[in-house]
Amino acid sequence: MDILVTGGTGYIGSHTVVELIKAGHNVIIVDNLYNSTIDVIDKIETITGKRVKFYQIDLCDKKKTELIFKENKMDSVIHFAGYKAVGESVMKPLMYFQNNLVSTMNVLELMVDYHVNQFVFSSSATVYGNPDVLPINELSPLSVTNPYGRSKLMIEEILGDLSKSNPNMKISVLRYFNPVGAHESGLIGEDPNGIPNNLVPYVSRVATGQYDKVNVFGDDYDTIDGTGVRDYIHIVDLALGHIKALNYLQENKGIHYHNLGTGNGYSVLDIINTYKEVSKKEINYQITSRRSGDIASCFADPTKAKDELNWVATKNLKDMLEDTWHFTQNQQKKK
Ligand code: WQD
Repeated sequence: MDILVTGGTGYIGSHTVVELIKAGHNVIIVDNLYNSTIDVIDKIETITGKRVKFYQIDLCDKKKTELIFKENKMDSVIHFAGYKAVGESVMKPLMYFQNNLVSTMNVLELMVDYHVNQFVFSSSATVYGNPDVLPINELSPLSVTNPYGRSKLMIEEILGDLSKSNPNMKISVLRYFNPVGAHESGLIGEDPNGIPNNLVPYVSRVATGQYDKVNVFGDDYDTIDGTGVRDYIHIVDLALGHIKALNYLQENKGIHYHNLGTGNGYSVLDIINTYKEVSKKEINYQITSRRSGDIASCFADPTKAKDELNWVATKNLKDMLEDTWHFTQNQQKKK
């Protein structure tokens, strides 16, 4: 199939593009390079042997975005593009709503105008807020605690109304848990600009000596060792979930929701200790106060994705952090 991937030079987008090409699809990428770099196109070519068609366009510019629909006949859109930093969203809510909602609306309106009726949306476990019951399944209560999460939930609700009004639309909402890791080539991975918000890229920079220690945000949670527990999922497992979701939409109309997680929870100290093991580096840390907005525990019940998408995460925590460390070392060589 011919697939438009928005945000396709980003962390999750680029890994999904690689797997789409491997599965025989023809991919077009649109990205405004706000949080990624153009050399990812070359890396995708190195990995897959294919040079994808690339548009450097901001999806908030509907006129420019329409060019893509005028010039290409697409079967599906996988929509990753959007701002995603929780802390930043609290400081700049209007920027998050403007960007994440307007860009999505433009894409959806053009899809309807140009009769592209398959849409896979990059949602997040953040729509479940602070769960009372674990593990989290797709019927768990939805509640959001920050503008980033609210923008994801608002888009899910827009998609629900679109699905009701347009029965031809086939929509997959994928709720990601915590994506980590990198492609086995070590060519693509997560290397955020500035100081990483997320744990694993931060620990990587302690392992390389760029930072002297990890601040562990609280060890007084009601968890196995008092530190935060999350469902970390290998980025390649996550990417493969999108292939399965696309396949599912070939046979299923309507809107469908699936958690993409492993079903296993790991603490901050588990991450630090496993990273030490795979990198053979000392990872110093200091217990500090909790980060506002954080929850104690979050991990998925991935049964629905297994039963309906025939998808299961196969890689374990050691695989995730070994591939992270391999990518991190590659990045170091370039500096
Ligand atoms: C994981 C754990 C922290 C950094 C966020 C978004 C989510 C998704 C993934 C977009 C927590 C602890 C972290 C550090 C620490 N993003 N931590 N020191 O917050 O679970 O999820 O990123 O879709 O929507 O909410 O991920 O990696 O920031 O934190 O102790 O320097 O590590 O308290 O327990 P999080 P994270």
